[in-house]
Amino acid sequence: MSERRIDRFPLGARVRLVDLAVDPYPIFAELREAEPVTWVPEIERWFLTRRDDILAVLRDPHLFTTDAPSTIRDMFGAHMMTTEGPRQVRYKRKCLPPFHASRLETASLPPLTAEVGRMVEVLQSGGQRAGEVRTGVARPVALHSVLSVLGIPLTETDRVNEWYEHFARALANFAGDPELRTAGKGAADAFGRALEPILEATRSGSRMRRLLSDLVCDHVDPLTAEEIRSNALIILFGGIETTESMIANAVWALLSHPEQIETARSRADALDLAIEETLRWEPAVQSAARHATRDTEIRGVRIAEGEVVHCMLGAANRDPAYFQDPDRFDVTRRNAGDHLSFAVGRHFCLGAPLARLETRVVLETLWSRCPGLRLDPHRPGAPYGYEFRKPKTLWVQWDA
Ligand code: HEM
Repeated sequence: MSERRIDRFPLGARVRLVDLAVDPYPIFAELREAEPVTWVPEIERWFLTRRDDILAVLRDPHLFTTDAPSTIRDMFGAHMMTTEGPRQVRYKRKCLPPFHASRLETASLPPLTAEVGRMVEVLQSGGQRAGEVRTGVARPVALHSVLSVLGIPLTETDRVNEWYEHFARALANFAGDPELRTAGKGAADAFGRALEPILEATRSGSRMRRLLSDLVCDHVDPLTAEEIRSNALIILFGGIETTESMIANAVWALLSHPEQIETARSRADALDLAIEETLRWEPAVQSAARHATRDTEIRGVRIAEGEVVHCMLGAANRDPAYFQDPDRFDVTRRNAGDHLSFAVGRHFCLGAPLARLETRVVLETLWSRCPGLRLDPHRPGAPYGYEFRKPKTLWVQWDA
């Protein structure tokens, strides 16, 4: 079967993950034009690259589901991202309140602004005029924010980082190494055990109200301890590297187009639009995967039951049928916000408002505290990666 597919989808057969990691966009453009539904033998998955097809798949959870065996389900159990229907809606509804933009503005904005200010001060300590923004700001901001919303004490940061490394390695374990799987599952169990005293303290009323406390104190059809653990795990995992990458990519995209920075800074809504354009142009998460629940067809191509379709979000974001001159980065693009970088449909990203807020605060703080902010020409870095994209390092300079 694979051999015939290789003949039928010659462009897909040439796709290499290492090339996608460096620069996926010319490859997406070729596929979108000539083989919009293609088979990629290197990972034995379907790739979709046209925006319309991707929208149709993500909006049809009956035909294309996340409710199927996957490493993320194996690792964390059943949670909102690996379930569909009423169960998924119930999980998401229970976890949604602290992620509402209005609640974030009051509960998260003041501490976030102070925290980012402190991080930039550390970057500038001793009169430094250069710093690395990904590990110095983006990563700690993402970690602090998601821990705060969940209500996990910041003293747990080192342990969370350690668990996170195990999860990341286990989820990227395409070769099925049993040791990586065991280490990942061990970290998920350790997270569950660490939650117990936090939930207990919440029950006794000695902790501040956050998502975990909301879930524990919920008396109407409450989630079980296992359901709280699984959903907390996906929120934690979903909120760290993604947001770190989104912040780093936004800083990189804007500093790579210095002529547009003044426009982006001119008004709050201009900055919000510019952030949407950074999301469209260089999304941190490049694909959303779905399993076909029965034999079906997309654009006349037969997809068999159980096969996995990768909706390439970065390709949808540069579809010329929807975005004019799509490869051009333009902070004034009116429809920039129609990108699919947070997906669409039932699984639309829970953390999108928080990630946007974090990015806005980082950009505003860097610009206000670091006059003449620019990329360091001696230490260049650009987004890299097939599934998650971010610069390995993001060195910037500023004036005294
Ligand atoms: C505070 C930060 C974040 C948190 C807590 C978070 C959490 C989550 C959760 C829990 C889901 C599953 C939602 C569901 O299935 O109903 C999700 C989905 C998703 N998130 Fe996020 N996320 C964050 C940031 C980001 C960022 C920065 C990006 C990319 C720019 C991103 C991209 C996505 C995508 C594409 C999906 C959909 C996946 C799919 O449908 O297969 N997330 N996120």
